[in-house]
Amino acid sequence: MRVSLIALLSLLVVANCFIIMKDGYFYDNDKGKSFIPRGISYQTFVQDIGQWITYPQIEYDLREMRKANINSVRVDFAWRDIESDGEGIYKWERFDFLVNICEQYDMKMLVLIGYQWPPNYFLGHPGQKAANLSDGGWFSIHPPSPAPGLEVLPETYIFDEYWVSDVMSFTHPKSIEKYCKFLAAVSGRYKNSKAITGWVVGNEYGFLGLWSFRFDGYEQSSLDSFHKYLTDKYDNNIQEMNSIWKKDYKSFDAVMMPITYDRDDPAWADLVQWREDNVANFIAQGVKAVRQADPNHLLTYSMVGMIFGGVDWMYQAEDNKKIAYACAAAGAPLAFWAINNYPSSYPGNELRTATFGIEYAKRTGLPTVYTETGSSSTDAGYIGFDDPEDRQGKLLRNNAWEAYTSGIIGVHIFTWPDRDYITVREYGFGILKRYREPKKSYQYMLELFYQVALIEQHLPKLFTSLHFASYDVGFYWPSTVDQMYNRYQNNMAGIWGPMTRLGLRCRFL
Ligand SMILES: *[C@@H]1O[C@H](CO)[C@@H](O)[C@H](O)[C@H]1NC(C)=O
Repeated sequence: MRVSLIALLSLLVVANCFIIMKDGYFYDNDKGKSFIPRGISYQTFVQDIGQWITYPQIEYDLREMRKANINSVRVDFAWRDIESDGEGIYKWERFDFLVNICEQYDMKMLVLIGYQWPPNYFLGHPGQKAANLSDGGWFSIHPPSPAPGLEVLPETYIFDEYWVSDVMSFTHPKSIEKYCKFLAAVSGRYKNSKAITGWVVGNEYGFLGLWSFRFDGYEQSSLDSFHKYLTDKYDNNIQEMNSIWKKDYKSFDAVMMPITYDRDDPAWADLVQWREDNVANFIAQGVKAVRQADPNHLLTYSMVGMIFGGVDWMYQAEDNKKIAYACAAAGAPLAFWAINNYPSSYPGNELRTATFGIEYAKRTGLPTVYTETGSSSTDAGYIGFDDPEDRQGKLLRNNAWEAYTSGIIGVHIFTWPDRDYITVREYGFGILKRYREPKKSYQYMLELFYQVALIEQHLPKLFTSLHFASYDVGFYWPSTVDQMYNRYQNNMAGIWGPMTRLGLRCRFL
């Protein structure tokens, strides 16, 4: 029921856009035909990861991309870079350039504009000890944990100091206000651009810092929100909560936010559900701000497609169904879903099929795009192989075909050149070397997109009328096991692969 409501609402909302959704695929109203992204996840100006491409290089790249049948780029309009000179001082020049030149080259853009890392003007001092739970300013706060730079393990949570996170608070009214203000500014500025397919309003959010590997969400405003969640859940009856938690709190306001992971602790189970709801509501507020500022473009959110971490305590609490529902409930339904899906490259690993991540995304009821997929020629999974670059190309090609033929409506390969200033594994995701000579994977990409372009030109219905065999096996995944999310993911994935090899089609219930 809720799924069809979302589909209905998204039809109403997109009726006026340049690229619209039609029969579950993108449709280019201007050209009167389907649009199947054959894309690159292209990082142009992202200072934090040392990727800074010059204007002449961008123009050169776009020309080469057109020759390679690429018709879409996923790009970053990073908040930290745009508003780095102070609040409300936006540096648009580079992004104006990018939008204009993409229009000129008929290159469609999926633009990431939602960031959990705020610009420098934000009140607070990330990385420092917090004197109390209100001492983070507009940033989130990590629970007691080792000093930054030391290894974080559940067993090491014996310190009594809270730390200010580098991630913004998802609950502080000021941080939400500033976040929405930026989103409205950027989407409003480019609302008439025909180059833009849609806005990616957030990427891989959650309560575990992607770089800090610490939990977030311990600041006072989040504690208040957690208290409200518990008050509602237990119908304002603290005895009821105490009997389940086996605690003797006098009131909901006195409840401590759990700090140490324990899969059997009902308090942890409640915390996980609060986190999922909270991140979903936060995302929905940003999506709504974009919808109000720009009625023209499609909206999405991009999530980790497969497995974020292998360890139970590291669950980041990013729930795709809750996010999609929260956006629809806020009156700003997502038109499609997006995942960054990286099948494993390790021989023998059961996650070498990406259908696990693809089927999981279908829980949203929305058509799904790959905002990223890729394979790194410098990954540990390549050690011992004679020709890592050739292997990278083959895996890339196979990943993309698996996606297109499993109902993914567009694919963006991560990424264009190899990148310095980042980890060994992250370095080699490019299909070009650091100084732009093509790697072997470039040739595989050329053949792949040439074939997809041929199909789109002559037989678009091969994609847009794909019909899937009915499912043979359903995997049951209720929210009651979310505190063991990572274990469930790993165990299910371990069964999924063999089932697929037996010729069975799997899905999630
Ligand atoms: C929290 O700590 C800051 C910095 O020491 C202080 O200014 C503030 O008054 C404290 N707030 C509370 C609620 O204790």
